[in-house]
Amino acid sequence: MFKIVRKEVLNPSVKLMEIEAPYVAKKAQPGQFIIFRIDDAGERIPLTIADYDREKGTVTIIFQEVGKSTKRLGAMEAGDSILDFVGPLGVASHFDGLKKVAVIGGGLGTAIAYPQAKHLHSMGVEVDSIVGFRNKELIILEKEMAAASSRLFIATDDGSNGNKGFVTDILKRLIEDGNKYDMVIAIGPLIMMKVVSNLTKQYGIKTIVSMNPVMIDGTGMCGGCRVTVGGKTKFACVDGPDFDGHEVDFDEAMRRQSMYKSEEKISNEKHEC
Ligand code: FES
Repeated sequence: MFKIVRKEVLNPSVKLMEIEAPYVAKKAQPGQFIIFRIDDAGERIPLTIADYDREKGTVTIIFQEVGKSTKRLGAMEAGDSILDFVGPLGVASHFDGLKKVAVIGGGLGTAIAYPQAKHLHSMGVEVDSIVGFRNKELIILEKEMAAASSRLFIATDDGSNGNKGFVTDILKRLIEDGNKYDMVIAIGPLIMMKVVSNLTKQYGIKTIVSMNPVMIDGTGMCGGCRVTVGGKTKFACVDGPDFDGHEVDFDEAMRRQSMYKSEEKISNEKHEC
């Protein structure tokens, strides 16, 4: 069993949990993920590793309560335990030779962008972080992202934080102001990653996106997490989750993401009864 040692509410539907998992903490790298299962009857849910502490033997996850399992997890408290916490899975991100990078986080994607920004910042890379939320109540990890960045820009769709717009507006402005990025890392909803990738393609800036499709085994055997990249089938769990944003077939990924919407709705309704 894996014990929850800390729980923090980041916004009304987003929670942070620090889980006691020394073997995962020992090997974890930025960009990797875990798959958890609450109990025998639970579904397997992938979550990106938001942080890790090798000394304490803990791994931090940040999740949004969107379905039955994440709602059940969100209702648990420090001191409770979950059955499975498998990882680290996936290929770690590689950032050698970079001098200046823009890290983009959309909504909950900020939780995945944070360890990337932190790692790059600790390597001495100049990091401009650009994060976007629907409104100011939903902003998460502002303090942490500020500490992990050279500059932090926060946009809201409704302008409630005084900075109305989308992450792409800010990125475009920064590029046109003469900032020369060696790489853009974009993590968030598929549509956001698609729009960022389309923008950076025009400027010839290498762009990495983090794909988060439905996953089952997490070891490359079920095919559930397949994505098309550069015309080839890849498995996000073993080939990713990071891929070249200019090569990803986002339209197909969006179609696949909506495939289980009706089953998810039924499961959610049963959970709420
Ligand atoms: Fe099964 Fe990736 S989750 S192949």
